Parts: sequence; structure tokens; C-alpha cells
Amino acid sequence: MTATEVRVVGFGMGPQHVTPEAAAALAECDYALAVAKGADDPLLAVRQAVCDAHGVELVVVPDPERDRSPGLDRVGYEGAVADWYAARLAAYRTVLDSRGGTCAFLVWGDPSLYDGTIRIVRALGVGFDVLPGISAPQALAARHGIVLHEVGQPVHVTTARRLRADVGLGQRNLVVMLTSGVDLDGFEDWSIWWGANLGGTGERLVAGLVGDVVAEIGAARAAAKAEAGWVMDLFLLRGPADGAA
Ligand SMILES: C[S@@+](CC[C@H](N)C(=O)[O-])C[C@H]1O[C@@H](n2cnc3c(N)ncnc32)[C@H](O)[C@@H]1O
Repeated sequence: MTATEVRVVGFGMGPQHVTPEAAAALAECDYALAVAKGADDPLLAVRQAVCDAHGVELVVVPDPERDRSPGLDRVGYEGAVADWYAARLAAYRTVLDSRGGTCAFLVWGDPSLYDGTIRIVRALGVGFDVLPGISAPQALAARHGIVLHEVGQPVHVTTARRLRADVGLGQRNLVVMLTSGVDLDGFEDWSIWWGANLGGTGERLVAGLVGDVVAEIGAARAAAKAEAGWVMDLFLLRGPADGAA
């Protein structure tokens, strides 16, 4: 069995979400590693706060540039992503090789949801384990005091880019992540529970019928960004009860 060289630690939305299990794992690590997106990545401060709270040194790796040219076709886009992924792998490998010991890879929320860290660590070929964290959908449900689905019914977790396709396939109760300003035209009679910057600076919550609250969500999103300097949001979207549509 390969020795554990990397601990993939989900830290939720900040130090207040670090579980005792994750805290114990951090305490056993020699350092933590995080990627910085640009010189003034505002989310780095949250990772630094997690490390400070647990006395772990944070090593910051600049995220390699990715070709985001708008003109890229599918092949070009996939090539750009592959190049970026390879550059990220090489940057991590350099740090692991030069430092030795056990490294914590800090993951926002939980590593199982829309996060590439586990794939990257597998590709590095190192021994690792995973410590779960509180995910954004859990934080959303808790803040609104709701269950993500009706009794005995499913919830579909997806991305904003896939929302319309998934609804077209019959999904009627969706958690939608990776939003960047949401187009909710046509969903006016659906219910929404929306949240931004949950557990952090600029937190905002809005709930109601889409047609009633869509403008409020737009304003709240802008306010969250103005207050924190960044915004991440997600929402639960539920279709009208059968027969009411
Ligand atoms: C790259 S994914 C990471 C998800 C994370 N691994 C998790 O478990 O929640 C980032 C997306 O998660 C959602 N998200 C993450 N943190 C959030 C927060 N504090 N408030 C609202 N949405 C958040 C947003 O939809 C954002 O676009």
C-alpha cells in the first residue's frame, strides 16, 4: 500500500466549518497547499484563515494561465484545458517533491462536488485520503431551513450550463451550481431558494416564486459581490406541484 502523502481536506466555507476529523488531519500535515487564481485571489484569505486556525503552513501555487480565447472551438477548448491541467499537475509535483512529508490539499466545500482535486491527486500517483467537508448545497439547505427534496423524492445536482437540458429531460427539483448570473426566463412559476457567499462575507439569501424574486436575486448577487469582492451562488429550483403547472 502507498503511504499517505496527501490528505484532501474539505474545509466547508471557512474555518467555522472545519470538522474535528479534518482538524485532526490538518494537525498531522507538514504543510497545506492551495492554488491562487491571480495575485489578489480573495478566496486565498479563507484558506489562510483555515491554516492559521490549525497552525499549518500554507504553500501557495499560482494557478497556471489557461487559454480562455473566446474563439476556441471544442477541440481548441479541450486542448487548452488539457494543457492547463498538465501545468497544474507539474506545479503540484514540484512542491510535493521538494517539500516531502505529508501535504494537505485544501478543498472548498466537499471534495466530491464539482472539484478536481481528487482527480489531480490520483493523477499524481501519490497515496491519499479524503476528509469530507460541508458542501454549498448543505449550507444552502441549512440557511433556508429546508430539505432539498420532497418526502421520498429525488434531488438532481447540476450546473447552470446544464439547467435547461436537465429540465428538458424531466428534472423538476434541482440544485444548480457553478452559476455566473442566472437566466431564469420561463421558470417564473417555479420556486427558488437562492444563496450567495454562504458562510462568508456578503452572504445573501432570497426565496420565493422565481417571477416574484428574480430582480431581488440580481440585486442581492451584485450586493454580495460589492461587499466581498467575489461572489459564488447556487440555488434550489423546484417546479410547481403536479397539476398546478
Ligand atoms: C467549483 S464548485 C465547488 C463546490 C464545493 N466543492 C462544494 O462542495 O460546495 C463552486 C460552486 O459551488 C457553489 N458555492 C461554493 N461556495 C459557495 C458559497 N459560499 N455560497 C454559495 N455558493 C457556493 C457555487 O455554485 C460555486 O459556483
